[in-house]
Amino acid sequence: MDKNIYEPVKCRVIEVITESPTIKTVILKPEKEFSFLAGQFASLTVPGVGEAPFTPSSSPYEKETLEFTVMKAGRVTAEIHNLKPGDTVGVRGPYGKPYPLDFYKGKEILLVGGGVGLAPLRALFFALMHTVKDYKRIVFCCGAKTPDDYIYKGKILDEWHPLCDKLPLCFRITVDRKDEKWKYGEGVVTKTLDGLDVDIKNSVAVVCGPPIMMKFTTLKLLEIGYTDPQIYLSMERKMYCGVGQCRHCLIGDLFVCKDGPVFTYDKLKGKPNIWV
Ligand SMILES: Cc1cc2nc3c(=O)[nH]c(=O)nc-3n(C[C@H](O)[C@H](O)[C@H](O)COP(=O)(O)OP(=O)(O)OC[C@H]3O[C@@H](n4cnc5c(N)ncnc54)[C@H](O)[C@@H]3O)c2cc1C
Ligand code: FES
Repeated sequence: MDKNIYEPVKCRVIEVITESPTIKTVILKPEKEFSFLAGQFASLTVPGVGEAPFTPSSSPYEKETLEFTVMKAGRVTAEIHNLKPGDTVGVRGPYGKPYPLDFYKGKEILLVGGGVGLAPLRALFFALMHTVKDYKRIVFCCGAKTPDDYIYKGKILDEWHPLCDKLPLCFRITVDRKDEKWKYGEGVVTKTLDGLDVDIKNSVAVVCGPPIMMKFTTLKLLEIGYTDPQIYLSMERKMYCGVGQCRHCLIGDLFVCKDGPVFTYDKLKGKPNIWV
């Protein structure tokens, strides 16, 4: 029998990690396996409150647990921040199209993420690292407003950054405003694209962050030589059904839920209100 695409998988909350003053990661144990590919999203239901779409931030290869990194924005996200170990939530999906990893093979992959936009890129990074030899190099540009707003600090700075000595991997790390303890760059994330030593012709750029960040990153990528189809953007819109039925998520004639949520810039260019 076909899978019911609306049926949530029951998940138990294992742990809630505070990443920053406004962002938490919830680690869930699904009652039955919940598989997804990097770039796809799911709808997370808090019983009695409501549901909202999120991209899993854990590795698509991790089958025991599932993680979502959530910024507090309103009602549902506030309740997700209040979850405690032992609570139950529902997860339905996965929906949307994944990043085209087969197409990325042999290329230099530039990841550019800001704030909670690092969440989908974290799942993608895990997937790339799983078969890291398939890619020429991974360059990960990460930004946040301040050191306190930096999510996955422990992972990025202490676990992943040291791997750059051994693997074809490089991090460019920045905050808009540093403090006295911060050892990395200062400036908005587009600044990490200055002096980029990437073979742009054989590269793709994957961008995720707030709309304003995605806009200026796209403009900068075009300025340094990337073409429209080489730029992958994660789009967010208000969603209800997640499967192309309710039309809430339209950008022009594109359904973010089923044609995306990741689009190359050539598909989006000229559509109304892409940077809202
Ligand atoms: C495909 C997809 C993946 C996403 N992945 C993540 C993720 O990994 N982590 C994360 O923190 N958030 C993610 N989001 C955004 C998240 O879905 C919204 O923050 C959430 O729906 C807000 O729900 P709420 O009930 O807390 O807020 P509401 O009470 O519904 O809204 C609070 C405010 O946020 C605005 N808002 C609500 N939803 C969106 C949206 N989708 N885009 C822009 N503004 C919105 C509302 O207009 C309002 O101003 C994703 C959204 C989509 C569409
Ligand atoms: S969320 Fe319903 S059509 Fe996309």
